[in-house]
Amino acid sequence: MKIPFNKPAVLGAEFDNMADALARGHLSGDGYYTKRCHHWLEQRLGCRHALLTHSCTGALDMAAILCDLVPGDEVIMPSYTFVSTANAFVLRGAVPVFVDIRADNLNIDERLIAAAITPRTRAIAAVHYAGVACDMDAVMALASRHNLLVVEDAAQALLATYRGRNLGTIGHMGCISFHETKNLISGEGGALLINDERFAERAEVVREKGTNRSRFLRGEVDKYTWVDIGSSYLPSELVAAFLDAQFAHADEVIARRRAVWRRYHGGLGALAAAGLIELPPASYDDRQANGHLFHVLAATLATRLALAAHLKARGIHSVSHYVPLHSSPAGSKWGRVGSGMKVTDDISDRLLRLPIYFGISDAEVDAVIDAVSQFYARRNTSIA
Ligand SMILES: Cc1ncc(COP(=O)(O)O)c(C=O)c1O
Repeated sequence: MKIPFNKPAVLGAEFDNMADALARGHLSGDGYYTKRCHHWLEQRLGCRHALLTHSCTGALDMAAILCDLVPGDEVIMPSYTFVSTANAFVLRGAVPVFVDIRADNLNIDERLIAAAITPRTRAIAAVHYAGVACDMDAVMALASRHNLLVVEDAAQALLATYRGRNLGTIGHMGCISFHETKNLISGEGGALLINDERFAERAEVVREKGTNRSRFLRGEVDKYTWVDIGSSYLPSELVAAFLDAQFAHADEVIARRRAVWRRYHGGLGALAAAGLIELPPASYDDRQANGHLFHVLAATLATRLALAAHLKARGIHSVSHYVPLHSSPAGSKWGRVGSGMKVTDDISDRLLRLPIYFGISDAEVDAVIDAVSQFYARRNTSIA
């Protein structure tokens, strides 16, 4: 592909940091670089505790354990999300209850949540799609009215904000991804943000295989032992060392991704005005996105497939997602729908993601815009 969908970037001191970690003689988790990453996340995002994990999937698994669910408990979430949002809760024996998304920001439709709440509901998993915030005021108000926990799946949302607050820091817990497709990366990687002190002590234990090893390392107990359920969720120092170097360039990366996002939005505006494609809202009054993902909506599934094939023939890799979880084999086995799914089904057919990454040049973005425009110049498939 001449223009891949994603290209992971090394931004500065990644390899020096990794060599330094080796020189320090500590490569397992929770050493110098992990602590630096925790500190950066806590300061920069404004959360009580940040814990690096090996992935956002791992952070979601930890959050689900901390929710202390029993089999049959229900967790409300969008169907239009990555499998890990649901898997984490299914692993605890809980039932994902899928709710439709809003047509504007493709996030869970907060107006449909109340009707999906039952006596078994314990939590809401709020996924911030494309780094655009869910309506967190409405979600938090519902949660407090019904005594529910809120886990933010902020996998895509590092440094995006809602009413000035960083995503991942508003619910009881937040989960971040540093997978190679995300804005800041460590190959695989993630973090659990703990925003409610009640979960802090247990989170440390769950992350360290169910032991009180963290307390032992701080000299608070004289030996460590198995005290709870848990697994190995912490990444090695090599991963943390890489990530620490990425954090140093956070502002630059977000600024560039936002600029690429705006360039797409402007360059494709004429097609949207002509009714040939739909574009996401350019901006919001109360939330700021992080330029994580740029998508267009084609008129139909057939048009989306044809557009993707047209781009591919020109060396441009575009990507679609998600197969809605309610219609996936595992989702229909372990979950259930809690609302109609009209928007989810429609969006899943028509959405196409265009290449966006830190190193993409303006000329490459323009080449993608030209290729999309050329596709529509050859046919006249209107949205209407
Ligand atoms: C919404 C959402 N949740 C969870 C994940 C899982 O993240 P990870 O790959 O770090 O496990 C992703 C990854 O793309 C995601 O987009």
